[in-house]
Amino acid sequence: MEGWILYKQRQSEISTEKYEMNRFLQVAEQRGISLKILCPEQFDLLVNRDDNKSVIIDDNYTQLPQFLLPRQGASTPYFSLAVIRHLERLGVNTFNSSQSIEIVKDKLYTQQILAADNFPVPRTMLARYPLNIQLIKETIGFPIVVKTISGSQGSGVFLCEKPGHLEDLMQLLDTAKTQANFIIQEFVKTSKGHDVRVFIVGGRVVACMERIARYGTFKANFSRGGKVKAFPISKEIEWLATDCARVLNLDIAGIDLLFDGESFKICEANSSPGFKGIESCCDISIPDVIFDFIKIRLGI
Ligand SMILES: Nc1ncnc2c1ncn2[C@@H]1O[C@H](COP(=O)(O)OP(=O)(O)O)[C@@H](O)[C@H]1O
Ligand SMILES: [Mg+2]
Repeated sequence: MEGWILYKQRQSEISTEKYEMNRFLQVAEQRGISLKILCPEQFDLLVNRDDNKSVIIDDNYTQLPQFLLPRQGASTPYFSLAVIRHLERLGVNTFNSSQSIEIVKDKLYTQQILAADNFPVPRTMLARYPLNIQLIKETIGFPIVVKTISGSQGSGVFLCEKPGHLEDLMQLLDTAKTQANFIIQEFVKTSKGHDVRVFIVGGRVVACMERIARYGTFKANFSRGGKVKAFPISKEIEWLATDCARVLNLDIAGIDLLFDGESFKICEANSSPGFKGIESCCDISIPDVIFDFIKIRLGI
């Protein structure tokens, strides 16, 4: 089997701290899979009608692989999307597809798709300037969570306890001339400081963990120092998370669920979820599961 990973760095630049990349390379080697990590800047995209067996990488025509694993998640820039689309058009099997990566990059669009299909989601609105704080109070109610449209590792997520905090935040963003779009979301109180991460591969829940935020923050991301422990996979979790991945067209997904009383609300979907946390608390090798899935999907 031969595959490429599309990542923000080239293979020679990957340090030992890049857990996921090192795990993929290690497992690929054990299994005799030829795996290369490439960054988008190594590609030249030549669009024509003739050659559909190769692409130009580092100035050389290179044979296409059997599969592509894009691993830039929410920070996939236009150039990477163009590379992924190009390879898809040339027939390379891509997990996940450019279309699904583009959807989940946008947290509002993701919620729109899920809400239209009746999934339980937190009340969410797009920030419009000037902000109508009264409307936000009436429709969403404080506290609220403010999020950048695109983001990961909790860096673009902020809790506003009171209307005054939101005003202060907006003034700050205005002064800093931040042009980014934001969403304003209901704060799901029963999930304060913890949530559930469900790992999906090929329509199956392969692992599930609870993440508990570090003291002093409400964000449970593992990358922000959250503690993790295996969490039982109930039917509800299984249905919610697998259906969510299906609707968003994700073959590989990290679905974040918020505790909503006895039930759950869908927080977000990630197209290239990290797996250091989940491998540390669940008995699983994520690269093995992903390669097993790809093998079956490619009929190898
Ligand atoms: N509406 C919410 N109510 C309660 N907690 C939330 C809410 N949204 C996010 N969180 C917390 O913040 C964390 C980060 O939010 P998320 O939208 O997943 O951003 P990121 O893409 O940066 O991971 C979540 O894992 C969860 O712990
Ligand atoms: Mg998240």
